[in-house]
Amino acid sequence: MAATFPVLQREFSPESEFAVDVRAGLSQQAQKEIPSKYLYDGLGSALFEAICFLPEYGLHRAGARLMCRHSSEIARRMRSATMVAELGSGTGDNVRKLLESLASADPIDYFPIDISAHALTRCRQELGAIEGVRFNPVQSAYLEGLEEVSRLRGDAGKLIVLFLGSTIGNIDRHEAARFCSQIRRHLRYGDGFVLAADLEKPISQLISAYDDSVGVTAAFNLNVLARINRELGANFDLQQFAHEARWNSADRRIEMHLTSQRDQVVMIPAANIKVSFRAGETIRTESCHKFNRPEVVEMAHRAGFRCEALWIDPEWPFAQFLFSAA
Ligand code: TRP
Repeated sequence: MAATFPVLQREFSPESEFAVDVRAGLSQQAQKEIPSKYLYDGLGSALFEAICFLPEYGLHRAGARLMCRHSSEIARRMRSATMVAELGSGTGDNVRKLLESLASADPIDYFPIDISAHALTRCRQELGAIEGVRFNPVQSAYLEGLEEVSRLRGDAGKLIVLFLGSTIGNIDRHEAARFCSQIRRHLRYGDGFVLAADLEKPISQLISAYDDSVGVTAAFNLNVLARINRELGANFDLQQFAHEARWNSADRRIEMHLTSQRDQVVMIPAANIKVSFRAGETIRTESCHKFNRPEVVEMAHRAGFRCEALWIDPEWPFAQFLFSAA
C-alpha cells in the first residue's frame, strides 16, 4: 500500500510588496514588466558582482578607474567638505580613496544611503574602519536618506553627494532630471555632487556588454523568474524564456527582456494570478539609458548645478562629473 504523506503547503503572504509588484507588472495589457530592484536578491547580487568581471562589461571598471584617478582632485576642489553622502552604498577602493583624502586634514562623516541592510553591512566591512571617517549608515530610499542627512548637518562644512555607477541611467530621462532637482533641494550653495553616467557607444559594444558570451547576464536576468518561483510559488519554466538585450534607439537605452519561447501560461499562487504569454512576448526587467556629455551638463544645470570638472575614461566611454550647487 502506498504511504500517504501530508502535502506540504507553503504559506505565501499575498500582501508582500514583491507579490503586489509582480501582479501589477505582469497583468499590464501593454509591455509586461518586473521592477529591476527584484533582480538583486542574494543570488542576483552575486551574479551582478560576476558581471562586473566580464570583459564585455566595461562600465563598472571605468567608474572605478575614474574615481581612483580623480579622487584627490575632488578632495582638493572640495577642501572644506566635512560630509559625504553616497546614494547606494559604496564598496571598495574607489570611495575609500576619496574618503581618505578628505579625512587627511579633519575628520569627516560618511553616510552611505541604501534601502538594503545587507548592502550597508557589506559597505561597513569595506569602508567602516577608515581613520578619521565616521561611518553613519542610513537605511532608506535615496531622497529620504538625503533629507535626513541634510537635517543632521550643522553650519560648518560642505556636503558632497555621490551618485556613481551610472545608476542615474536606470530611471527614465525625465525622471533623472527631476531626481537631480530633488537632490539640489537638499543641498546648500557650494555643496558638491559627483555624478557618473555611461555614455553612448557603438550598439554592438552595448549589446555584448548586456549579453555576454559566458551567459552570466542571461543567468542574472533569468534569476528573477527563478526568484518568483522560489518566493511566490510560481511555475515559470526557465527553459521557455530567453534573455534578450535590445537597443531602443528612440529612448537611447539598452533594455533587458525575457522572451517567451512559446505560448504558455504561468501560475503565480502568492500573487494570485495566472499569466498568459504569447510566443515572442517579453517581460521587460531593466532599462539602462546612455547619455552624451552635453545633455548631462545641461540636465544638471537646469537642476541648479554648475559643472566644475568632468572626466571621461579613455578605454570605455563613461563620464564622471563634479558639480557644485549654484
Ligand atoms: N543596471 C545596471 C547597468 O545599467 C546593471 C546591469 C548590468 C544590469 N547588466 C545588467 C541590469 C543586466 C539588468 C540586466 O549597467
